Amino acid sequence: PRVIYITRHGESEDNAAGRIGGDASLSPSGVAYAKALSRFIDRRRLEFAVEVEEYNRQLAQSICSSTASSTPGACSEAESSASHSGAADALRLEQSLLRRRVHPGFEVWTSMLKRTMETAEYFDPQIYRVKNIKSLNEIYAGKCEGMTYQEIARQYPDEYEARQLDKFYYRYPGIGGESYADVVLRLQQVIVELERIRHSVLLVTHRAMARTLLAYFMDIPTTHMPDMELPLGYIYACEPRPFGNHLRVWRYIP
Ligand code: G3H
Repeated sequence: PRVIYITRHGESEDNAAGRIGGDASLSPSGVAYAKALSRFIDRRRLEFAVEVEEYNRQLAQSICSSTASSTPGACSEAESSASHSGAADALRLEQSLLRRRVHPGFEVWTSMLKRTMETAEYFDPQIYRVKNIKSLNEIYAGKCEGMTYQEIARQYPDEYEARQLDKFYYRYPGIGGESYADVVLRLQQVIVELERIRHSVLLVTHRAMARTLLAYFMDIPTTHMPDMELPLGYIYACEPRPFGNHLRVWRYIP
C-alpha cells in the first residue's frame, strides 16, 4: 500500500511570462501552491499512516491466529504448554510486526531546478526526506531555452513546425537539446528506483516529466503522451491495484 504522487512545481516567474526552460524562482502564486501542497500531503500522509496501521494490525492478527490454531488444542499437559508457547510466539510476532510496519515513510523528490526545490520548501524535514534529482529536470530546450512559443515560431519557424509534426521524437536544436524520447531514457533510473522502493513518494517536477511519468504508470501510449494536458496546480496519485495503477486527481483551488 503505497502511493506515487506527481505534481508540477508551483507557478514560476517564467511560467507567468510564458517562457519555457530556464531556472526561475516561484511567483507569489507559486509560493501559495507550495504551502498548500505541503498541507495537502501532510493530511494524506496521516490518513495513509492510519490505513497502514490498520492493515498491519489485520495482517498481524491473521498471522497470529493461523499460528495459534496450528498448535494442537486437545488436553494433554504437553499439548497445553505447546499451545501456550504458540500463543506467546504469536504475541511476540504481532508486536514485532506492529513495530516494523509496512513502511509508512514518505519522500519528496524534486528536480535540481529552483522552481521545484522551492515548491518542496515547506515540507517538515523531520518527517519528509527531500531529494533533489537532476534526472527530474525539465526537458532541455537547447537554443530555445527561455523563449516563448511565439518567439520560437517567429525565430525558428522550421523547428516549430517540425516539433508540431512529431513532438515525441523532435529534439530541440543546440547543445544538450532534448526530445521526449531522450527524456524517457533519462527517466529510466528514476523509474527503476520508484519500482524498487515500498514507501510513498511525491514527485515535484515539470510538465514534460510529469507527462512521461504518468504515461509510464498509467500505460498511456507515447503518441498521446507529449500532448497530455497537465496544468499547474494538479496532483496526480497513482495507487497500485491488482491489475495496474488506479489514478486519482486533485486540483488546487487558490
Ligand atoms: O518546455 C517546457 C514545457 O513545459 C514542456 O511542454 O513539451 O508541451 O512544450 P511542451
